[in-house]
Amino acid sequence: MPGRQSQRLWRKYALLGLASLVLAACSDQTLPLNTLDPRGPIAERIDSLFWLVFWIAVIVFVLVQGALLVAIVIFRDRKVDGQKEPKQIHGNALLEVVWTVIPTLILAGIAVPTIGTVFDLAECQSDSFEVEIVGRQWWFEYSYPDYGITTANVLVIPTQTEVCASMTSEDVVHNYWIPNLNGKRYLVPGSDTELRLNADESGEYWGQCAEFCGLSHAKMRARVIALDQADFDLWVEEQQEVPEPPAEGTPEWEGLQVFMQTGCAACHVISGVNEPTRQEVTVVAPDLTHFASRGVFAGATLPSGFNPTQEEREIALAAWLADPPSIKPGSFMPDLGLTAEQIEVLIVYLESLE
Ligand code: CUA
Repeated sequence: MPGRQSQRLWRKYALLGLASLVLAACSDQTLPLNTLDPRGPIAERIDSLFWLVFWIAVIVFVLVQGALLVAIVIFRDRKVDGQKEPKQIHGNALLEVVWTVIPTLILAGIAVPTIGTVFDLAECQSDSFEVEIVGRQWWFEYSYPDYGITTANVLVIPTQTEVCASMTSEDVVHNYWIPNLNGKRYLVPGSDTELRLNADESGEYWGQCAEFCGLSHAKMRARVIALDQADFDLWVEEQQEVPEPPAEGTPEWEGLQVFMQTGCAACHVISGVNEPTRQEVTVVAPDLTHFASRGVFAGATLPSGFNPTQEEREIALAAWLADPPSIKPGSFMPDLGLTAEQIEVLIVYLESLE
């Protein structure tokens, strides 16, 4: 029968699809967004609340389904002569009160730790380490008011430190989500929200804008790098440095000329190069002062892959500079019509900005 055959085929494909989904979820190299893998005290609080509710739900499920199975077996039609019809009832006040009161008590019990956690995580502690996050289509800008540092795509934080991110948006609503470190929190234009972050150990934690914010929403990644205090202090020192301008005639210098003359400098700022024109620019793009110190660019989506080689990085950078909107649809960085030679020296210059 062709109908049964196609049904079997369909089932096979469904099973295959399910299996590949399950297998894909196992690989944390390609899918590093795992909310069930807390890496700090804040994420752990959310995680323990999740498991508490999960196990209560499991107990309820087993009891209810168990009772259902018992009833099905005991009161089944035995197909024997003279089997009596079970007593027919309509409504039972006592039972109904019991199965209303028990769920009410369970929900009230769950509400206590839930509301406690929500309120506890809602606001930053007063002595937190401060960073500012601004959401833009389609990348995150990070600044450190106490250190005079502005960067993009990668948020660097010290480990075992309560970090308070004050967040806002310059255009539409975005949502900041680093599943290993905390839940989601909106970035709203004209309003400030706060997000607590705290990482136990050094490492990288990936995230994603979790609110649809336009064409390249899916390409608006976030990346947090947690460094032990000594490494973090070193990073701060490096970020505060103003890079030396390249010597005339070198490829880096030629790249700088491309940066200044083709339109890049109208939106991007490099300390010591086109400062302090930042306030004058109308379209704000990532600060490139220490571009090469960031592992990623283009909304933290390039280079794709998690441990790219320098060559892969340069290939991605060349493709990006040649035609940004082809890589990030709707990108406000236009195709500047750069020649291959211009792109080559521009990459040499950008990669020297460590
Ligand atoms: Cu920003 Cu989605």
